[in-house]
Amino acid sequence: MSIARMNTAPRLTAVGLTRTFKGHAAIQDISFTVREGEFVAVLGPSGAGKTTLFRCLTGLLAPDRGEVRVDNDDIVRLHGRARRRIAVVFQQFNLVSRLSALDNVLAGRLGHVPVWRGVLRRFDRADRLLALECLDRVGLLRQAMQRADTLSGGQQQRVAIARAMAQRPSLIVADEPVASLDPAAGAGVLELLQRIARTDGVGVICSLHQVHLARTYADRVVGLSQGRKVIDSPVCRFDERAFGKLYGNSAGNDGDPA
Ligand SMILES: Nc1ncnc2c1ncn2[C@@H]1O[C@H](COP(=O)(O)OP(=O)(O)O)[C@@H](O)[C@H]1O
Ligand SMILES: [Mg+2]
Repeated sequence: MSIARMNTAPRLTAVGLTRTFKGHAAIQDISFTVREGEFVAVLGPSGAGKTTLFRCLTGLLAPDRGEVRVDNDDIVRLHGRARRRIAVVFQQFNLVSRLSALDNVLAGRLGHVPVWRGVLRRFDRADRLLALECLDRVGLLRQAMQRADTLSGGQQQRVAIARAMAQRPSLIVADEPVASLDPAAGAGVLELLQRIARTDGVGVICSLHQVHLARTYADRVVGLSQGRKVIDSPVCRFDERAFGKLYGNSAGNDGDPA
């Protein structure tokens, strides 16, 4: 899988990312690439630096050193609509609860402008069709007109993924997207992200608490420990030794050393 992707385009390139809080490096000299169609899982114990890394990847946090490139463009230089190339999926879904599923997905067409502008704006027919197609792909076409807060957690996260897809992004960044979901709903969400990567060629980078989920859905694992990258390997080589490097002798976060 990874060998076949050696020649595919890089969607995300992180180079030497370092971010320090009060003299303590939350992440230090982190470099890696996510290629077209690739699903990369970021693993590591609590406090390893995953969220800090993801905030740097989405431009929410400026690193002290290093750079982030999306399709070879430095994100510092991506403004306005170009920022749509990075779609973010959050642990808590971040939908507008009183809006319909469809209106939440349409917000994805606006990129990163405030949602209230989307609420006031009228979308054209092409945008509406695209939003409906995205809802269909996450299996929620019938719920298009339903208020977001009447959907289950798993359905809300699938709306959030449809919203991400409606951005037509190069990259989807998801920090713990299944941490608030029950196992079945979580598996459904990861399966969707995997399918989007493979079908649309989007790069997906996703932090996970559970190693077995990375093994099931990811192509590659990037492992962080105390702010440093200690693993960067195809998922098939993420063995017990690699597991020990990340979580020490503990069983990790989910008692899943196998
Ligand atoms: N805004 C902040 N201010 C101070 N320290 C922070 C801040 N954000 C993260 N940290 C520290 O950086 C380290 C990594 O945290 P984080 O990126 O949240 O890790 P993870 O997501 O892997 O649990 C931790 O030691 C955390 O306390
Ligand atoms: Mg975190």
